[in-house]
Amino acid sequence: MMEKNAFALITGATKGIGRAICDLLIEQGHSVIGIARNPDASFKGQLYLADLLDAVSRKEVFKEIAHAFPINRLVNNIGFNHLQGLPDITSQNYEKIIDLNLTVTLELTQAVLPSMLALGQGRIVNIASRSMLGRKNSSVYAAAKAGLVGFTKSWAIELASAGITVNCVAPGPIETEMFNRNNPIGSPGRQSMMDAIPMNRLGGPREVASAVTYFLSKDASFTTGQTIFVCGGASIAQQHF
Ligand SMILES: NC(=O)c1ccc[n+]([C@@H]2O[C@H](COP(=O)([O-])OP(=O)(O)OC[C@H]3O[C@@H](n4cnc5c(N)ncnc54)[C@H](OP(=O)(O)O)[C@@H]3O)[C@@H](O)[C@H]2O)c1
Repeated sequence: MMEKNAFALITGATKGIGRAICDLLIEQGHSVIGIARNPDASFKGQLYLADLLDAVSRKEVFKEIAHAFPINRLVNNIGFNHLQGLPDITSQNYEKIIDLNLTVTLELTQAVLPSMLALGQGRIVNIASRSMLGRKNSSVYAAAKAGLVGFTKSWAIELASAGITVNCVAPGPIETEMFNRNNPIGSPGRQSMMDAIPMNRLGGPREVASAVTYFLSKDASFTTGQTIFVCGGASIAQQHF
């Protein structure tokens, strides 16, 4: 469990994996602050609205949140993928994928770091993907997610003596809005993905959230720089999708 005075900040908080993390933390009695673009009346934490693709808006909202709350738990959950083969990668998509997966993670972590350093404790969890091991038509996404592992390991070393842990959760295919958009129900890609997962099914957002809340917990204090795959065994299977 996290301690009762924990303030957790989660990006991409209203849907999919981010929403499951927020709901689980709220069930456990923690204060949750989320960021998304659209209002959501069913969200039980405090929701800030901003388009994280907009560099000016995101800087403003990060500053506002860091000023308002002593954030000591951060989940860099937001990410984006657009399936494109190598010859078709456009600079527009490249920039969007790098921005939402890597740049936002860097800027938000920098924004809340002073609060964690002042408190002398903190937990940071980055959400990568099994795709970082290699995935057809997803090379920019794979590179960005592998980059998050680089951030995780490097920041873990830099922040270890400050009492701040940095870990990473790498989900396999999880049924969310983003997943369904990229892999429509009935599409051959979706089926071949499920065939390549040893558990022969998609994961649920809650199954990812439980790994995240472990890393966020007070008791996970001697674990840093690690990546855990929540992927039904896909990361250790021979087949690739
Ligand atoms: N689903 C999978 O199979 C899977 C697998 C591996 C890794 N992941 C990773 O897991 C993370 C979450 O993915 P997900 O599938 O749960 O996503 P999702 O279901 O599409 O949810 C996205 C969340 O982010 C918000 N959002 C989207 N664009 C935004 C923007 N520009 N600015 C601010 N907020 C924005 C959305 O709310 P609004 O629309 O209101 O903004 C929503 O709350 C990502 O990093 C993804 O790469 C997912």
